[in-house]
Amino acid sequence: MTELPLVRVINGPNLGRLGEREPEVYGKASSEYLKTELEKAAEALRLRVELSQHDAEGEMVSSIWEASDSAIGLVVNPAGYSHYSVAVLDAMKSFPGTIVEVHISQVLARERFRANLLTATAADTVIIGAGVHGYVLALRYISSNIRP
Ligand code: DQA
Repeated sequence: MTELPLVRVINGPNLGRLGEREPEVYGKASSEYLKTELEKAAEALRLRVELSQHDAEGEMVSSIWEASDSAIGLVVNPAGYSHYSVAVLDAMKSFPGTIVEVHISQVLARERFRANLLTATAADTVIIGAGVHGYVLALRYISSNIRP
């Protein structure tokens, strides 16, 4: 039996405390809830999904490179790094498959600096403000854009 295609979901700094951190902005759903929802969606889409979270910029970069070697799709929320990290942007630029950048909150309606989505320039598409449901939408997008 052939292995199902892998999608890596990589969350950036401060997203390890989903549900606890500013719930009025990021919602009450926890990382565990996100993991369960992603696994359910992946099963329905005949994909494998692996979720990781990194507070350190270098770890995020390494994780994106690792994904380049094994995954057909990348769902990434670089969190605070989205707005200025050339290092994360460069790693994303080398990812060979489909990239969806997700932002849980509606960043365009928040502080002005959050509207500058530097890393999103390397993504195929961006999902903003759909809460944690944005990650499931991202999986669906990748599933319908699997490159042969
Ligand atoms: C975020 C938005 C960023 O501005 C912020 O720094 C985050 C989370 C979001 O998912 O809405 O940590 O990427």
